[in-house]
Amino acid sequence: MVIVGAQWGDEGKGKVTDLLAERADLVVRFQGGNNAGHTIVRDGEVFKLHLVPSGILHPGTLCAIGNGVVIDPKILTSEIEGLKRQGIAAGNLRISANAHLIMPYHVLLDTAGEQKLGSLSIGTTRRGIGPCYADKSSRLGIRVQDLLDEKILRKKIMAAMEPKRQLLRPHAKDPALDLHAMTEEYVTYGHRLEPYIADTAKLCWEALDSGEAVLFEGAQGALLDLDHGTYPFVTSSNPIAGSACVGAGVGPKDIDDVWGIAKAYSTRVGSGPFPTELEDEVGDRLRERGGEVGTTTGRPRRCGWLDLVALKYAVRLNGMTGLVLTKLDVLSGIDPIRVCVRYRGAEGATFEEFPYHQSVLHHATAEYEELPGFTEEIGDVRTEDGLPDAARDYLRYISDFVGVPITLVGVGQGRDQVIWVGDEEARTLRAA
Ligand code: GDP
Ligand code: IMO
Ligand code: MG
Repeated sequence: MVIVGAQWGDEGKGKVTDLLAERADLVVRFQGGNNAGHTIVRDGEVFKLHLVPSGILHPGTLCAIGNGVVIDPKILTSEIEGLKRQGIAAGNLRISANAHLIMPYHVLLDTAGEQKLGSLSIGTTRRGIGPCYADKSSRLGIRVQDLLDEKILRKKIMAAMEPKRQLLRPHAKDPALDLHAMTEEYVTYGHRLEPYIADTAKLCWEALDSGEAVLFEGAQGALLDLDHGTYPFVTSSNPIAGSACVGAGVGPKDIDDVWGIAKAYSTRVGSGPFPTELEDEVGDRLRERGGEVGTTTGRPRRCGWLDLVALKYAVRLNGMTGLVLTKLDVLSGIDPIRVCVRYRGAEGATFEEFPYHQSVLHHATAEYEELPGFTEEIGDVRTEDGLPDAARDYLRYISDFVGVPITLVGVGQGRDQVIWVGDEEARTLRAA
């Protein structure tokens, strides 16, 4: 089963993965890097994960960082240490030997690139994600397995770093770009990570062959997809479900279910088009009630109404079989609630489907349907019947519009603050 973000990231993938991981044998992250920030709240304690899969809180679940992920070993080692301090042993963690490494020059290039773009900057997380994937495609990448052989590592760093010195001329003498110091630092990370390094694709096949339940955890979201998102305001990997096969090493037939995670409204961090953005008191209210501040960078998230045109697009891109709607509790007290049902272009044309043309999207304004809101607090509701009528109607409207059943609804940060819709809980249990 694949868990993916259906919007611009931060939909609550971490929480849903943690919830489902209880019934899974293996959880695999398949793309992205420490641009991701996945939050889990267990018994009031907060866990913020960037690279470690969100199944790690379950001692019986194996967690793998797949080949498709880009790993900053400095961040990963400190994340493992942090988890230990929170009482979570990372003994169940496995790291693909084929995953690519984020190097110090990737981080410098990311920042330099953003500065050069000035007002046109993408608003990246500046974690070196784009430059690392670029090196992977250029075949200049350095992989986890290279950490285990100092001679090879040094050679590869030399080859990869030389062209960067030109690009980073103001930093050319930066101690961060010293070949020997960098090799030594990365060899140290290699020693620390060695116990976790594995053939993670093989782990997936073994689990699948024995009929075990495997969860593939995505990062970011469909609208940030390198191919299908709002390019160039996207991330440098493919956060859609098809990418789980590439980033973990399994075939399309190994996937039975794809659950897309969406918030009951929309948020976006960084630049780029956002047709339903609210720059008014409703937007401020969503930001405040929803705690919409980036997990990774601490930036306030841009907030807006739910965009059903974009969500329908995400359903199609992912072949979604179920939709999880999180943060329904945040909408309490907002009346009416609006949902975007089409866009209007600069010249008056209407768009029922997500437009492929960048200029059209940048000038598109959202057209809304108004739905009744609800005032009750719903954080303690655990059944669909216990929801206010307006909240139930809202769910029905969304699932009818996008043509996918809603399987799970989030009504708070806590692991238990969910409502299983229909017989989904029983079905998921049976599948596991
Ligand atoms: P991810 O990147 O998709 O894993 O999402 P983030 O963790 O970055 O952001 C989602 C935030 O919303 C986290 O702080 C979650 O604890 C929180 N959250 C998840 N589901 C719900 C929900 O149903 N209600 C509320 N109020 N918060 C939620
Ligand atoms: P999770 O997994 C939200 C955004 C950045 C920027 C763009 C490119 O927590 O949902 P990058 O650093 O990837 O080159 O930045 O993508 N972005 C995210 N936004 N959630 C994320 O991850 C994101 N990861 C990247 O803000 O706009
Ligand atoms: Mg996040």
